[in-house]
Order: sequence, then C-alpha cells, then structure tokens
Amino acid sequence: MPIKSRIRTIPHYPHEGIQFRDVTTLLKDPIGLRTTIQEIVTRYQSIKIDKVVAIESRGFIVGAPVAYALGVGFVPIRKPGKLPAETIGCEYQLEYGSDRIEMHVDAIQRGEKILLVDDLIATGGTMEAAAKLVQEMGGEIVECCFVVDLPDVGGRAKLEKQGLKIFSLCQFE
Ligand code: PRP
Ligand code: ADE
Repeated sequence: MPIKSRIRTIPHYPHEGIQFRDVTTLLKDPIGLRTTIQEIVTRYQSIKIDKVVAIESRGFIVGAPVAYALGVGFVPIRKPGKLPAETIGCEYQLEYGSDRIEMHVDAIQRGEKILLVDDLIATGGTMEAAAKLVQEMGGEIVECCFVVDLPDVGGRAKLEKQGLKIFSLCQFE
C-alpha cells in the first residue's frame, strides 16, 4: 500500500480551514514506517552526506532513523530554549502562527554536506529558517527531504526559487 494512503486527514485542525495531514497513522504501521525510512535511505545512500539535520518534533521521527541507516550523525533543530549550549536562531511564519527554531553553533562544520529532513512542507517557513541556520554555519545543503508536500500552499516553489533542492515522498493537493 503506498505511503500516501496511510496518512490520515483531519479537517479543520488545529484551525478552521486547515486540512491536517496526520502522519501518525503512517508511523504506527510497521510497513508504513519501514517503507518511509527505506525510500528516503535508498535515495541518499550513494550520495555524500555528512549529517542529517532534522526539525523538532515530527522531523526527528523521520530524521533519526534515516541518519542511523545512512551511518551519519544527527543534528536536532529545536524550538526556543531547549538546547543547552550556545545556539543560533531564526524566526519564521507557520501555516497557522509563528515560531522560532534554534541550532547549536557547533553542530555542523563549514563545508559539511547536510541532508535536511522534516515530515511535511506547507508554507516552507520552517524549512526556510532551518536552511538559513545550516547555511549560516557554512553547511552545504544537499537536499531538503519531506514525507509530505502540500504544493498548493506554495512552500516547495518558494524554496526552489531560493536554489534549494526539494524532495517529498508524496503530495496532497
Ligand atoms: C509542522 C511540520 C513542519 C512544519 C511545516 O511542524 O512538522 O515542521 O509544520 O509547516 P511550514 O512548511 O508551513 O513551515 P509544527 O511547527 O506544527 O511542529 P511539530 O513538528 O512539533 O508538530
Ligand atoms: N504543518 C503545517 N501545515 C500542516 C498541515 N496542513 N498538516 C500537517 N502538518 C502541518
């Protein structure tokens, strides 16, 4: 069964008008979880990647097993005030609200090849902010990888205009 069919849609969550694409139904399914991670690993296993950088919190669920399977390090980008050492941060807009993300300043080294991972791209605001943090530290972004793309919201097109490469396992209109 394809990945998309295992993702549940919750209408009007967390706000009126939002179609929430709920990946918990994909992740709780053993074949769904394994297929998701394997499809991502297959795409990147023969490409040079030094680290996987993933975004709290749903991005961690996908990013950590991908890093493990690729045999590379994992770096968390977190919500404000969660990382204990020196951080850099970036504010961004969500499809429903605004937030800030942070990364440790010593998390990546200049010139390292970085795979950015999150569960979903909507406006692209979260990934845009994450990409800025990685680039500020001198990381070279190989690609931004998602389980779900919502192309009608426009995030993918926005990030591609900035020169970022975007990959998703499935799309919802
Ligand atoms: C969700 C999702 C992405 C982001 C996508 O995270 O996991 O990180 O929104 O939206 P965008 O493309 O419009 O920026 P959320 O901030 O809801 O946090 P969570 O992962 O902790 O649920
Ligand atoms: N994050 C931002 N927009 C979302 C949506 N429509 N479904 C699930 N997660 C989201």
